Amino acid sequence: MTARRYPDPPVIGTPGTPSATHVALLGSGEIGKEIAIALARLGVEVTAIDRYDGAPAQQVAHNALTVDMSNPAELTAAIRSTGASIVVPEIEALATDALLAMEGSGQVRVVPTARAVHLTMDREGIRRLAAEELGVPTSPYVFAASQAELAAGVEKIGPPCLVKPVMSSSGHGQTVIRSPDDVATAWRRAATDGRVDRGRVIVEGLIDFDTEITLLTVRSRREGTGGTVTDFCEPIGHRQEDGDYVESWQPQALATAALKRARQVAATVTGALGGWGVFGVELFVCGDEVLFSEVSPRPHDTGLVTLASQRLSEFELHARALLGLPVDTALRLPAASAVVRADREIGREHGPRVQGVAEALAVPGTDLRVFGKPEARPGRRMAVAVASADSVAAARERARAAAAAVSAG
Ligand SMILES: Nc1ncnc2c1ncn2[C@@H]1O[C@H](COP(=O)(O)OP(=O)(O)OP(=O)(O)O)[C@@H](O)[C@H]1O
Ligand SMILES: [Mg+2]
Repeated sequence: MTARRYPDPPVIGTPGTPSATHVALLGSGEIGKEIAIALARLGVEVTAIDRYDGAPAQQVAHNALTVDMSNPAELTAAIRSTGASIVVPEIEALATDALLAMEGSGQVRVVPTARAVHLTMDREGIRRLAAEELGVPTSPYVFAASQAELAAGVEKIGPPCLVKPVMSSSGHGQTVIRSPDDVATAWRRAATDGRVDRGRVIVEGLIDFDTEITLLTVRSRREGTGGTVTDFCEPIGHRQEDGDYVESWQPQALATAALKRARQVAATVTGALGGWGVFGVELFVCGDEVLFSEVSPRPHDTGLVTLASQRLSEFELHARALLGLPVDTALRLPAASAVVRADREIGREHGPRVQGVAEALAVPGTDLRVFGKPEARPGRRMAVAVASADSVAAARERARAAAAAVSAG
C-alpha cells in the first residue's frame, strides 16, 4: 500500500459525519490544546489522546481517549479506533515504531513524518543525523552507556559539560559537570529522571552562547506544484531555568550573517526530516556562528509567544501546513510570553484554582491562556501570559507583570 496522500486540492469534511477530516492528536497538553482549537476552527474533527483524563486538549476536542501511548499495541489500537487518517504527535514519549508501521502500511499520515517523530524523540537519532550526516555544526558531544563511559566522555569533551538522558525533555535528568567528581551524580540523575531509562546519555560541551533562539520553520505545500516551500518566523529569544523555559519574546534581533546561517541550518535539518508542518529549531548563536541544538517536529513551547505576535500563531501555521494549505509567517507586533507555574500540590478531587486573573488582564496589551490541568504540583506549568507592545522590552515587562500577578495551585 502507498502512504496516505494529501487530497489535492485540499478538501475539508464535516466533523461527526463520514466526510470528516479527522486528526488523532497524540498528547493533549497546552500545546495540543491550541493545536486542537486551530484545527477545529478549520472544520477538522479532533480526537485528543493522553495518558490521563481531562488533559487540556481533551477539554476542547470533539473526542477524547486515555491510553498509554508508549505501548505500541495500545497506541495502534487507539489510533485505529478513532478512524482518523491524520496523526499529529504533540509529545515525544510515543511508541514511534508503531507510528512508523502504521504510516508505512498506508493506514495513516503522521505529521510531519513518522521518521521525523522517531528520530527527534531520541537525542542520539537527531544529533547523529544533523552532525554526522548533514554536517551541521553542533556542540562537541559523545554518547555513553555506563558510568565508566561517561567518565571517559567527560575527559574527552572536557568540563564544563552537560549530561542529558537520550530520552528526556524540559531539562529532566540533566547535570552540568564541572569536575570529574560530578560524574557519579550525573549518571545517577540521568538514570532516574530521564523519561525512559535507556541507560544512555549524551555528553555535550557547554556552549557559552550570546543568544539562544527558537527558529520556527514551516514546511508547507507549494501552491500549484504540490512541492514544498520552507518559511521562517522571526527568531524567538527565550530564557531557560533548569532546562525549562520561563519567558520568550519575538523578534529576537540577530546580525544579518547569523540570521542567514540560522535559516540555512533550519532548512537543512527540517528538509532532511521532511513532511509538512511547523518545526521548532533550537539554535545557539555565537557571533556569526550558529550551532544546532535540537528540533521539535511540532509547535514549540517557547512559540506560545506567537499567540500575541504573529498574524497566524504557530498552532494555526501547523494546522494549515498539515492540511496542505498556504501559510503566512508575518509578524504583527513585538510580543512576549511568561509562564505561570503551580506553587503547591492540588489533586483533582479539589481542582487547582488560578487567582489574580483580573490583575493580570488589567495589564495593557495582555492575554492569559489558562491550561485547565486537573492536577497541580509545584513547578508545573499551569498558564501563560502573552503580551504585545511597541517594543520587545515593553512586551516582556507586560508579560512578566501579568504572570507575576497570577498564582495557581
Ligand atoms: N550544550 C549546551 N551548552 C549550553 N547550554 C545548553 C547546552 N545544551 C542545552 N543547554 C541549555 O539547556 C536548555 C535545555 O536543553 P535541551 O533543549 O537540550 O533540553 P530539553 O530537555 O530537550 O529541553 P526542552 O524540552 O525544554 O527543549 C537549552 O535551551 C539551553 O539553554
Ligand atoms: Mg530544548
